[in-house]
Amino acid sequence: MSAIKCVGILTSGGDAPGMNAAIRAVTRAAIFNGIAVKGIYRGYKGLITGEIVLFKTENVSNIIQHGGTILKTARCTEFKTPEGRKIAYDRLVAEGIEALVVIGGDGTLTGARILAQEFNYPIVGIPGTIDNDLYGTDITIGYDTALNTIMEAVDKIRDTATSHDRLFFVEVMGRDAGFLALNGAIASGAEAAIIPEIAVEKDQLAETIENGFRKSKNSSIVLVAESDVTGGAMGVAERVKKEYPQFDVRVTILGHLQRGGSPTAQDRILASRMGVAAIDALLEDQRNVMTGIQNDQIVYVPFSKAIKNDKPINRELLNTLRVLSI
Ligand code: F6P
Repeated sequence: MSAIKCVGILTSGGDAPGMNAAIRAVTRAAIFNGIAVKGIYRGYKGLITGEIVLFKTENVSNIIQHGGTILKTARCTEFKTPEGRKIAYDRLVAEGIEALVVIGGDGTLTGARILAQEFNYPIVGIPGTIDNDLYGTDITIGYDTALNTIMEAVDKIRDTATSHDRLFFVEVMGRDAGFLALNGAIASGAEAAIIPEIAVEKDQLAETIENGFRKSKNSSIVLVAESDVTGGAMGVAERVKKEYPQFDVRVTILGHLQRGGSPTAQDRILASRMGVAAIDALLEDQRNVMTGIQNDQIVYVPFSKAIKNDKPINRELLNTLRVLSI
């Protein structure tokens, strides 16, 4: 059994639907195992400024269905400095918080890893990001909800695209990863996806158009992953206007609406499992690991692996999209 008597929990970086379900699960699993829980508001920023509240099971009632994070979140530059992290560590000691559970993406886990190393402090991470870009887990919390949001948005765009015989470029989030664009394209029946993983290898726009794109249709939708590598939807549309002026082009940038909304059942279940698994990890004296899911089994991935390795896209999906877009 772990000797930990009090655990802190925070959410950091971009919010993701399902973070509340994870907060609920961590809180309840800790209390179930006799560990006190302190909620830290506004991520690492709140750790530095001391926005910390003792949580009871009631603090996390009626939140599983809500998007966003009741703990709020922030991107904290002070925590990136050794001085900021020392203040944060001193705060943890003063509050009697003996271990941390952090929920967030790449930046959150990177911060956790450095804090854990500098002060030999136990931290468990939970992958919460719509980008799905963390290595070692098949899926991250928020990704499925964001995918569904994209699918619903593209369904609507298709109505107007078809009516006007237009070519739409729809930009989706993902930072440097194309998971949302590629699977969003398959789910919404889009004609193509332009993603950074492939854009570095070849000119996806030229290939798509030269391969007889739109042979059997008058309207088309292409999902474009935000990224300097793809040029984003605006960049791609500008190119089309110059190089293929026969198309009537429009652009939609879905933006932050992809981060909101009530989490899907899949995200709620994933977050619940990972929250319980995070406390299990601490009970087993595991530290500096991220909870992950592989083939429907919970796994623990060292921070170093989750952060450093690039998560590859599944190339079979590219073929699926190509075959189905004729
Ligand atoms: O990491 C999640 C994410 O939504 C990315 O997809 C996007 O690039 C970024 O955060 C946007 O960050 P912000 O909300 O700070 O503008």
